[in-house]
Amino acid sequence: KFEGLAMTPPMGWNSWNTFATDINEDLVKQTADIIVASGMKDAGYTYIVLDDGWMTRERDENGNLVPDPKKFPGGMKTLIDYVHSKGLKFGLYNCAGTKTCAGYPGTRGYEYQDARFYAALGIDFLKYDWCNTEGITAKEAYTTMSNALKTAGRPILFSLCEWGDNQPWEWAEPLGNMWRISGDIYPCFDCEFKHPENWSSWGFMKIIDMRKGIRKYSGPDHWNDFDMMEVGNEMNDTEDKSHFSMWCMVASPLIAGNDFRKMSKETLNILTNKGMIAINQDKLGIQGFRYNDNNGLETWVKPLENGDWAVAFLNRSEEEKTIDFNWKDHSIKDEEFNKQTSFNTSTYDIQDVWNNKKAGNTKKAYKSKIAPHDIVVLRLTKKLK
Ligand code: GLA
Repeated sequence: KFEGLAMTPPMGWNSWNTFATDINEDLVKQTADIIVASGMKDAGYTYIVLDDGWMTRERDENGNLVPDPKKFPGGMKTLIDYVHSKGLKFGLYNCAGTKTCAGYPGTRGYEYQDARFYAALGIDFLKYDWCNTEGITAKEAYTTMSNALKTAGRPILFSLCEWGDNQPWEWAEPLGNMWRISGDIYPCFDCEFKHPENWSSWGFMKIIDMRKGIRKYSGPDHWNDFDMMEVGNEMNDTEDKSHFSMWCMVASPLIAGNDFRKMSKETLNILTNKGMIAINQDKLGIQGFRYNDNNGLETWVKPLENGDWAVAFLNRSEEEKTIDFNWKDHSIKDEEFNKQTSFNTSTYDIQDVWNNKKAGNTKKAYKSKIAPHDIVVLRLTKKLK
């Protein structure tokens, strides 16, 4: 892979969650304009990624992929130049199989040709899916495409999307900058959505829970990818806030999947919360973990730079709960990344991230009511004596 393209989790937008294959150049231009005007670019969102559906159903007579001229009448290159002129980056999607998941031409057998095509267009990001792959193995197929991109010469962030079925965390670190760990997300808190064709999409907390023991594989330039976000889609603002917070706590790429042209003020505020983004983009790049679960009131922790910690209380239940966290009774140990702290011996100042307010220090228990599906995120900084 091209090294160093994702030293912190990539941030941007992807068309799939809202638009599926109903995409076009006006949507991309408007999205780019809004990213700049709304402050999202300043908050760190840089990639605009077109997912499945950007091609025609057949390659041309030379075997090249063809951007759909009905959806992109001005031409893909012109569109990409436009996105670049805004100081943003551009990504496309394809698939390791014979066809993409939505039935467009897949890359199998055309890896080097397609990589040259992408480099010539000037893309910066490739999401590479795993439908219609009978008879090939994931590690080999992703190795071939990774090598093809490298040979084509343009730095292109490589995003693997094989849903975690072949344990990409065990082999994809040299090949790509991020890899999906699950099937597709669904805009709900904790549900399983069964499609009639006999596959499931998953509420965001189901994805959070889906793989155990893989956090040690995630870090700078090689991220566990929890999927594109559903913030601003069908959940309420409380759930969106929890969804965004959890993606920050587990250091997932932050790829928004909502329609920016219809985004509410609340959605924009969630997606651009500075304190939360700082937790996600922390330079250590450590994926947070569940510290305990008290009848549906879960405590999550994430070690941060300079000895800081992020601590999140998530109410996963359907009832109001009371947080009563007496710091002195707790010491946290992250054996995988060799980080630990004991609140009995060290005192930290507390910043309530969503309220952007100081909340005392760890000498006193933290107490607060918390609504169902809500989250409280605290940033702890060691008190200077
Ligand atoms: C798969 C991926 C999705 C999306 C669709 C496109 O389901 O997991 O993220 O790219 O294919 O068809």
